[in-house]
Amino acid sequence: MSETSEIARLREFLTELIPNEDQFQRLYRNFCEQIRKGLGANTNKEASTKCYLTYVQDFPTGNETGKFLALDLGGSNFRVLLISLRSNHDAEQTSKIYQLTEKELLGKGSELFDYIAKCLHEFVCENKLEAENLPLGFTFSFPCVQIGLSKATLVRWTKGFNCADTVGEDVGTMLKVAIARRQGLKIDMVAILNDTTGTLMSCAYKNPECNIGLIVGTGCNACYTERVENCERLDAKYKNKPKIIINVEWGAFGEKGGVDHLHTEYDKIIDKNSLNPGAQIYEKMVAGMYLGELVRLIMLRAVNENLVFAQCKLRKHITDILTKKPNCIETKVLSEIANDKGDDWPLVKEYLKKIFNLNDPDIDDCMKFKYVCDVVAKRAGNMLGVTLSALANKVGEKFTIIGVDGTVYRCHPNFDGYMRETLDQFIEKGIRYDIMLSEDGSGRGAALVAAVVQRENA
Ligand code: BGC
Repeated sequence: MSETSEIARLREFLTELIPNEDQFQRLYRNFCEQIRKGLGANTNKEASTKCYLTYVQDFPTGNETGKFLALDLGGSNFRVLLISLRSNHDAEQTSKIYQLTEKELLGKGSELFDYIAKCLHEFVCENKLEAENLPLGFTFSFPCVQIGLSKATLVRWTKGFNCADTVGEDVGTMLKVAIARRQGLKIDMVAILNDTTGTLMSCAYKNPECNIGLIVGTGCNACYTERVENCERLDAKYKNKPKIIINVEWGAFGEKGGVDHLHTEYDKIIDKNSLNPGAQIYEKMVAGMYLGELVRLIMLRAVNENLVFAQCKLRKHITDILTKKPNCIETKVLSEIANDKGDDWPLVKEYLKKIFNLNDPDIDDCMKFKYVCDVVAKRAGNMLGVTLSALANKVGEKFTIIGVDGTVYRCHPNFDGYMRETLDQFIEKGIRYDIMLSEDGSGRGAALVAAVVQRENA
């Protein structure tokens, strides 16, 4: 961006959203402290990052075979998949997406599970699987206390879900009961897993050096492989295997103050207006559900302070939209305009027209709007790089692969670079890493967990 004095003023105005090295260091230290507490038996209670035990301790070899069903619930829609694993890292899959409406997201839990069972039934019939008793892996991407592989008690809803009578319940039983209510549906649910675990497993299927799974989509979270001797809360009977996947649930980081030094007024408003105020503080700074909203709030203040659209005829109309229409800036805007270039800014213009009905905006305003979007995305990517490096250092292998999935990571052209920037800074000397895109972690990962469970129980 060329430095006119006006742009320098905008930059100054955004300083609090551009953390410096000291602030990142503090983030690193606070996060490590929370992980330490999360793992400890006596300190887990006070930790924001609960470091849930997943009971996934076996990893794919690439030679798993068989047919599996998978359910994937965790975002704005829900999927059913049929996955055929063949030996030699080869898999084939058919899937169907079912839309979720507010009725399911905010209704009763039993109704949500009835709906899932209905979709599952339809899928089984459409694929002529009625006669088979297939094992099913259930990717349920919300914080859960696992009691073994196929029982998981929901701790809280996140990401716009808020179904009644579900928190504190075992979602495995809820699913089984709903399946049993549908006559003629034979399914053997063998494992419940988080999408981060699925991502780690689907990457480990291709590459055994994968030790971290990350999702940056509607929500955000990570998991990693921990040595059993570091897991004080793990029962001795699970300690004959060397490692276990820990679901960090880092979306909750910040609930005990770990990100206060980076938490701006905008972040506070996002939190206050959310379905779950006070919860998932880190997630609200880095995940897709919130990034567009952050841009809206920043733009609103910037317009009010005459930093953007100061000369624009539609200034009042723009302020009205920014004030009255929450979510008028979708997170996909950040990704789509990230590669737009001056002098003409065609994509920025397209979105300014869509959002504000603004024709022929001033070139400086285009540049400034894009700059705000970039600052928000960069802060998220940089923060994630810091916490990822803490996990890579904890894993302690000379070389670690980070398996990643999620729309923000996939769609934003610079997000990978933003994460690497701080990863490179914070990862210990002697540890190398790479980032690998997961091939459908929530689907294939669920089939793989089901497959390794079967292998171990055989
Ligand atoms: C949930 C996690 C999940 C993440 C990504 C968060 O809101 O708490 O369990 O892994 O979203 O889907």
